[in-house]
Amino acid sequence: MTGLCDGRVVIVTGAGRGLGRAHALAFAAEGAKVVVNDLGVGLDGTGGGTAPAQQVVDEITASGGEAVAHGGDIATADGAASLIATALDAFGRLDTLVNNAGFLRDRMLVNLDEDDWDAVMRVHLKGHFLPFRHAAAHWRAEAKAGREPVARVVNTSSGAGLLGSVGQGNYAAAKAGIVGLTLVAAAETARYGVQVNAIAPAARTRMTERTFAETMAAPEGTGFDAMAPENVSPLVVWLGSAASAGVTGRVFEAEAGRITVMEGWRPGPTADKGARRTPAEAGETALKLLAASEPPHPVYGTR
Ligand SMILES: NC(=O)c1ccc[n+]([C@@H]2O[C@H](COP(=O)([O-])OP(=O)(O)OC[C@H]3O[C@@H](n4cnc5c(N)ncnc54)[C@H](O)[C@@H]3O)[C@@H](O)[C@H]2O)c1
Repeated sequence: MTGLCDGRVVIVTGAGRGLGRAHALAFAAEGAKVVVNDLGVGLDGTGGGTAPAQQVVDEITASGGEAVAHGGDIATADGAASLIATALDAFGRLDTLVNNAGFLRDRMLVNLDEDDWDAVMRVHLKGHFLPFRHAAAHWRAEAKAGREPVARVVNTSSGAGLLGSVGQGNYAAAKAGIVGLTLVAAAETARYGVQVNAIAPAARTRMTERTFAETMAAPEGTGFDAMAPENVSPLVVWLGSAASAGVTGRVFEAEAGRITVMEGWRPGPTADKGARRTPAEAGETALKLLAASEPPHPVYGTR
């Protein structure tokens, strides 16, 4: 049987649990060799251990696949560098990077401590930048040596980053930042054979099973388990494969059986006076333009 990712080497960060675990298993099922990264931290980013990553490696090898564990922190320079080095040392190449690791420290902005701001920005935004930076340096060197890669990066944003989410100001800002990072990364590295896209997933994991217990619940009986994390992975595997040629700099929502292309900021109604306005004139123009514009989607938690 041939798989969509035969011969490819794939890194998945935060792959010891939840969505990352589902992605790692799905890549392995399509023939990829997988580096399973996970720091094994608690829901708020504290603690740690290599058990979750090793468990997923064991699951992959038990079903005949190839995988290695990496237990480093992807938001540190050493962790990110050793992550890329692990793929190259273990399997001799790197084709796909899935940035997925992260955790939450939810608070209303008015109560949000600086530490909770820093920790969440660090794990998501820096935790996407650093592995990308090291992977991209490798792919640029490959391209310059005449071995143009068919490289893929899949980043993990969130509906919170695209639309906002009450009680998640730090997380929403980091996840919106990941969209900006995705656009720039796609534009800068296309010349080296790298494609970079982002997903905004929704699934039942420890991150969501309590806060959104009702929406995330598994069905009773044998019906379609819409919120299983395994439903998000097929799009991630396709984006991470050679088959997604030509798709880059895009954001997809992936949830249950649904895939949605998210259409981002673009100019809406506009007016040019050709001269400076007074503040009162600017206000009058802004209100006219707003009246002619699409109303924004509501922020999560306000409906
Ligand atoms: N579950 C959802 O509905 C949902 C919705 C939107 C976005 N997301 C995003 O999807 C990604 C996966 O989340 P999940 O729901 O599977 O959560 P999860 O808690 O089940 O899995 C996240 C994993 O990341 C690991 N991790 C955390 N910090 C790390 C670090 N510094 N280095 C390496 N590993 C680290 C954790 O140990 C954990 O195993 C996250 O980026 C999350 O923000 C999830």
